[in-house]
Amino acid sequence: MTVGEAVTSATRRLRAARLSYGHGTFNASEEAAWLVLHACALPAGTLGENFNVPMTSAQTRRLEKLLEKRIEERIPTAYLTHEAWLGEHSFYVDRRVIVPRSFVAELLPDAIGPFLRAPVRSALDVCTGSGCLAILLALSFRGAKIDAVDLSKGALAVARRNVADYRLGRRVNLLRSNLFASLARRRYDLIVSNPPYVNAASMRRLPGEYLAEPRMALAGGEDGLLLVRGIISRAKRHLKPRGVLVCEIGRNREALERAFPRLPFTWLDTSAGDGLVCLLEREHLPD
Ligand SMILES: C[S@@+](CC[C@H](N)C(=O)[O-])C[C@H]1O[C@@H](n2cnc3c(N)ncnc32)[C@H](O)[C@@H]1O
Repeated sequence: MTVGEAVTSATRRLRAARLSYGHGTFNASEEAAWLVLHACALPAGTLGENFNVPMTSAQTRRLEKLLEKRIEERIPTAYLTHEAWLGEHSFYVDRRVIVPRSFVAELLPDAIGPFLRAPVRSALDVCTGSGCLAILLALSFRGAKIDAVDLSKGALAVARRNVADYRLGRRVNLLRSNLFASLARRRYDLIVSNPPYVNAASMRRLPGEYLAEPRMALAGGEDGLLLVRGIISRAKRHLKPRGVLVCEIGRNREALERAFPRLPFTWLDTSAGDGLVCLLEREHLPD
């Protein structure tokens, strides 16, 4: 069997299994390509050039195991390959972190740039998980010092590995913290966050693939806004005078605007619409 034939056959099986997608891939054929390339130890994105390459029996056996796990245990492909992509950047992942898919990533740095009113010399990533946004901050704002916090020790271990892979240890500082609690009086030009924001009703209906992710990376309390409220309420004291907060909130725009009716939210345009990521300037944030 060639690599191309394996992708066709794996696509058919994944389709028949009626899986849920959205962990870095959008459909069965993308996932089949990832799994086949991984089974053959070929780099991501090289399907075209390897299409007619025959697979060895060891590679075919490896693929079979991967497909079984994907289909029977509903494990997202990124956990099977230990690799997730945001644009052109790849990150190590395992089940200690959510699979990176934040819309904030596509906004860094160009879409946020026009709203920044001071050069970014320091930035904070709250709820950093795999460290993906902290790393993109460091790559976007060369020379800036980045702090990144998470409450989960496991997530911080994954983030440490990614920061080391990108050789950013001198500029990205990882800390265990319940939101801002361990940051004392530190202040930043930019704060970004992709916190947990799934509401309780949606948590009860999650497809199997999402149950494979850490619950604390998804669950945002009854209305989904528990962590978002904490961030908006406390961000001001951690922003420098012309600083800006960017926060992803999922599909909770209406609830958030009801919770903070006086705040002049700017809604940033993302590939999935414009109500998912908000931006607030320091002077508008609550004291
Ligand atoms: C949605 S994930 C985001 C991870 C990463 N920023 C990304 O975009 O892929 C949310 C993260 O928030 C962390 N978290 C949950 N509650 C927290 C809290 N009270 N303080 C800090 N981090 C928290 C979780 O451990 C998880 O890693």
